[in-house]
Amino acid sequence: MNASLPAEAVSALTEETIFVTQPYLSPLDDFIPYLREIWDSKVLTNGGPFHQRLEAALEEYLGVDHLALFSNGTLGLVTALQALRITGEVITTPYSFVATAHSLLWNGIKPVFVDVDPHTLNMDPRKIEAAITPQTTAILPVHCYGYPCDTEAIQKIADNYNLKVIYDAAHAFGVRTGGGSVLRHGDLSVLSFHATKIFNTFEGGAIICPDAKTKQRVNHLKNFGFVDETTVVAPGINGKMSEVNAAFGLLQLKNIDEALASRRDIASQYCALLSDVPGIRCLPACDSPIANRAYFPILVEDDFPCSRDALFERLRQHKIIVRRYFYPLISDFPMYRGLVSANPANLPVAADAARKVLCLPIYPGLSTANVERIVDIIKTY
Ligand SMILES: Cc1ncc(COP(=O)(O)O)c(C=O)c1O
Repeated sequence: MNASLPAEAVSALTEETIFVTQPYLSPLDDFIPYLREIWDSKVLTNGGPFHQRLEAALEEYLGVDHLALFSNGTLGLVTALQALRITGEVITTPYSFVATAHSLLWNGIKPVFVDVDPHTLNMDPRKIEAAITPQTTAILPVHCYGYPCDTEAIQKIADNYNLKVIYDAAHAFGVRTGGGSVLRHGDLSVLSFHATKIFNTFEGGAIICPDAKTKQRVNHLKNFGFVDETTVVAPGINGKMSEVNAAFGLLQLKNIDEALASRRDIASQYCALLSDVPGIRCLPACDSPIANRAYFPILVEDDFPCSRDALFERLRQHKIIVRRYFYPLISDFPMYRGLVSANPANLPVAADAARKVLCLPIYPGLSTANVERIVDIIKTY
């Protein structure tokens, strides 16, 4: 060790970089037989055998009846809106990844932002009715961080106003409530299997459909609108998942329970260590039994000794690469900020959360020593 370096520089040299997440990868050797099968069959895509097997395996694992795989979650969202022929205005949340609202713009639909609930940071159902106009056709909420929306309240409003509900469930893999899988709510739910998600297929996604007929329409739409060799029934897109991604998903699924258990374990370590730190609020509340711990968000409240951004920089100096999900709000991006509903005065809770949130590292294999190191840096600010 170079004794002439300042202490901070020495620790920067010796400490490993910890990212907010690390993709879960099943052992490479276990994947080789799957690849051999693909090479032997020469079926690479177009709903091949691995695609069919993964759809069936995920339906069983998630406790849903009809699941259509996609090449990514964004194309799933774009297609879900097409499948239900959504037009006009759609009520959504500004507190999400930008793909949620982009899927509306790709369909020529106007997003209408409503504020979020301060305890869950999910769309606040109490704010929805005031945003409904004669042009409103649907609601697009997000189960943010994998914490379930108030699905009952949202469905009641949708029923009263004859609106469709599409859940952006990109974070909600494996989440169950008293009524079973959270993915069974609404008209459609859309998952992401991106590398950063709990269950990843490198890139991937899925739409959960309520019945076989809807899944058939979704299947047509994700394959250019083809029904058979010579019949095209809709201006579809190419949203198909390849056989390599599907085969990898089958292997990943074998290890998912272990990965979820490891996340829960790390989350309870954070909860215990952060519970007595003034000015730090864990979200959702640490005793939540139904979060899948896809993320570990904290809010750096005003009574913490420094700002969220100062803590963000301090952690980065120690090679802890935390992320500010979701800052900026979607409604602050240039293609949205001109909308009346994007006015920050309309979204005070979301704006406050975007100013305070930090997502701490969480992934299977993150050691207890590193969890303690991260919390120590926060505590000793
Ligand atoms: C809330 C949300 N919606 C949609 C997406 C888009 O999913 P994908 O990256 O699979 O296209 C993501 C993440 O990437 C997300 O976090």
